[in-house]
Amino acid sequence: MTQRTFPTSIDIPEAQRAQLVSLLNDRLSDTFDLYSQLKQAHWNVKGSDFIQLHELFDQLATTMLGHVDLVAERSTALGGTALGTVRLAAERSTLPEYPLDAVGGLEHVRALVERYGAYARRVRQAIEDADKLGDSDTADLFTEISRATDKDLWFLEAHVQA
Ligand SMILES: [Fe+2]
Repeated sequence: MTQRTFPTSIDIPEAQRAQLVSLLNDRLSDTFDLYSQLKQAHWNVKGSDFIQLHELFDQLATTMLGHVDLVAERSTALGGTALGTVRLAAERSTLPEYPLDAVGGLEHVRALVERYGAYARRVRQAIEDADKLGDSDTADLFTEISRATDKDLWFLEAHVQA
């Protein structure tokens, strides 16, 4: 979705900024969607590992919400409009919906591992896309998110790798 951009003194041409804003907004929808899926897991997980998974999912959700803010604010810094409502995230996210019948700890972990994998792939692609558009700062922002996402994916995957 390409929208109007506002004038700014940032020295990236308007045509590139519009594409960067579009890239950022695409990933914003995924990030906000994944945040809500982590809260869904945090609220609904059951089983003998309840407390540690309940807390882990909340910790990952807090990190993800930080990414939401980073991505949205880079979009506006570049003269764009952040597409940040829950309705827009639901409409635009590229991630699959969360399995609403998940109950046990490992069911939630596996559902999140699958979604983190898809999210990590898109963020890594976004680093390259931002680079090609001549914006090292947006590439760096996505690199920061990518590194954090890989780490959090490890925290999830360690439960199912043994
Ligand atoms: Fe909570």
